[in-house]
Amino acid sequence: MAVRKLAPEEMQPESFSFSSETEAFAEQQIAKYPPGRQASAVIPLLWKAQEQAGGWLPRKAIEAVATRLDMPFIRVMEVATFYTMFNLEPVGQYFIQFCGTTPCVLRGAGDIKKVLEKRIGEQNHVTADGKFSWLEVECLGACCNAPMVQINDDYYEDLTTENFEKLLDDLAAGRPVKTGSQIGRNRSEPFEAVNTLQDPSLYDGSQIGAWRKRFEEQAQPAATGEAAAAAASIPQDVKAAKPTAGRAIESEAADTPAKRAKEGETPVNPVDQKEAGDPSVATKGKSHTEEGAQAAPQSSKSYVASPGKDAVPTSPTTPEAGTPLAQAETRRDGSESKPGVVVDKDNKTS
Ligand code: FES
Repeated sequence: MAVRKLAPEEMQPESFSFSSETEAFAEQQIAKYPPGRQASAVIPLLWKAQEQAGGWLPRKAIEAVATRLDMPFIRVMEVATFYTMFNLEPVGQYFIQFCGTTPCVLRGAGDIKKVLEKRIGEQNHVTADGKFSWLEVECLGACCNAPMVQINDDYYEDLTTENFEKLLDDLAAGRPVKTGSQIGRNRSEPFEAVNTLQDPSLYDGSQIGAWRKRFEEQAQPAATGEAAAAAASIPQDVKAAKPTAGRAIESEAADTPAKRAKEGETPVNPVDQKEAGDPSVATKGKSHTEEGAQAAPQSSKSYVASPGKDAVPTSPTTPEAGTPLAQAETRRDGSESKPGVVVDKDNKTS
């Protein structure tokens, strides 16, 4: 792609201001966006300014758009020089955009290009009478009717050297021309004989719902087959996984009132047991047992052993019950809440 820059100074007009029609268009476009977001209308305003200026954007037109949208000039220049839909140099009354992309080339675009060069000259060049100029562009989205050109706002498709020469002659003479296919094709229907989509039932409504019915009919045996396959895949003699794999193992509780009573010791209040492992509670001093609270019934089974109220933790990171918070270890890495080997005041371990 050629460098896109403004036309030479000698081509630039002295001034540009919005016509009443362009101003009305600008107001309509700006109203589409929230206050302060008027810059969003930059492309439509540039497009309309280009139309008013005769098909190209002089510097003054770009400045007028920037002023109207309260944008820096360079921001509008960025848009105008980026998009090839904006012409930065004067164009002919009939500005021809010639598609030079592969599908069109495969269908004879090279011959169309030769006609342009013979009749108009190099691209970006306006004929002496000001009627024609042309530019090679990328795919214009009408590949199925290739080769094609866009002249101002209309497409001309299915071109041959003959019908394209005639088209240029008619435009130059001011005669009416036919847009679209130049060989009588209806839009993008098949090029010669129409031999698809000819069943009348496609258009009389009788096919509505037929596809669903057909899918349901086809899906039914398939579902049955799947269900049968799924049922067959279930083993008849199911063996349990290892019973203890990944599971907690129930065992005799290490320190429970029932166990202590059985061993002839004083039962420990389960609340004290719980709070003994919590330093913030343990520092309160008096236990529920000392206050005469009754031990609540407790299961003789448990999953882990908890330190008792008189337990002396062997881990140096666990504060001893009754230790003021200020003197307690500041480390809190979770180890203080882990059950460990504890020794009671009678030097018994649990
Ligand atoms: S390739 Fe020419 S219109 Fe798509």
